[in-house]
Amino acid sequence: MNPESAPPPPIPAVQTIGLTRTYGAMTALSALDLTVNRGDLFGFIGSNGAGKTTTLRILATFLAPSAGTAKVLGHDVVRDANAVRHVIGYMPDFFGVYKDMEVTEYLDFFGACYKIPTAQREKTVNDVLELVGLTEKKGALIGALSRGMQQRLGLARVLIHDPQVLLLDEPASGLDPRARIEMMAILQELQRLGKTIIISSHILSELQTLCNRVAIIEKGRLIYSGPVQGVRDQMSTGLVIWVRVATETERAIELLRERPEVTGVEVVEGRLKVTMASHDIDHSCVAEVIVRAGLKLLELQEDELGLEEVFLRVTRGETQ
Ligand SMILES: Nc1ncnc2c1ncn2[C@@H]1O[C@H](COP(=O)(O)OP(=O)(O)O)[C@@H](O)[C@H]1O
Ligand SMILES: [Mg+2]
Repeated sequence: MNPESAPPPPIPAVQTIGLTRTYGAMTALSALDLTVNRGDLFGFIGSNGAGKTTTLRILATFLAPSAGTAKVLGHDVVRDANAVRHVIGYMPDFFGVYKDMEVTEYLDFFGACYKIPTAQREKTVNDVLELVGLTEKKGALIGALSRGMQQRLGLARVLIHDPQVLLLDEPASGLDPRARIEMMAILQELQRLGKTIIISSHILSELQTLCNRVAIIEKGRLIYSGPVQGVRDQMSTGLVIWVRVATETERAIELLRERPEVTGVEVVEGRLKVTMASHDIDHSCVAEVIVRAGLKLLELQEDELGLEEVFLRVTRGETQ
């Protein structure tokens, strides 16, 4: 194939290269290389203080990077900040609501800020209210809405100028399970409408079924970026085998700990949780050592680390 005839690679929705931010002597974000493709519903995950808000604020042009670059749909967040502001909708982690304002008044106000002509504004406001399921609350005072509804109103606000890229900082935090599910359903609908969405969370499992890709950061560094399933494959510290013996549990623990393939044995609710060094290891030795010692094996079951456990281990620095 003639390389000159190949189309240029598409511009990613978001791309950061070596993105770094310091606060005084403290490095909040360290050489972050991140690519989010168009149409992604992208989970940005890290425990508190990992650097999520810092990253999103830089992408939203609210905060200047100390080094490195960040682009949104090809626009540089420092040099082309205005262009970036037009294509993004940024929902901060905490935003004030105007409690004494009516829902439509509030959205109309932001529509005016984005210079949407008066004639069009009513339709635009109705459309975004429909999208977030708040049509019935049009005339309600914001202060009278539930927390879940206020979050959805916040989402409606960032949709008012029809941005292509949404930056949502922990939009589901503090919501009850039902409100969270409603929020997630709206995000899926927005993805279906062609938006690119970055959503941050400190709970990996919250995003595992929602997002097609995730990035995990810890202490300002990227430790994983890719499909959700890859998190487990790449980071899982090993295979877990659950074992139950009839008697002499202590003896079984001792024997298992002597095996080089075994990296840990602990008692959890009457069973032994045996962690093997890796997934590829032949774990027949577990049954073998127990049976050879004349102990009675009642149960042996293979398990994989739960996704949340993998995440906790990763973010506690127990892997690598
Ligand atoms: N304005 C600031 N001044 C000093 N340190 C800050 C400031 N904002 C954030 N930090 C620090 O930067 C780190 C990353 O914070 P942040 O981006 O808010 O993380 P996250 O959103 O993942 O919880 C934290 O250690 C935090 O204390
Ligand atoms: Mg934050």
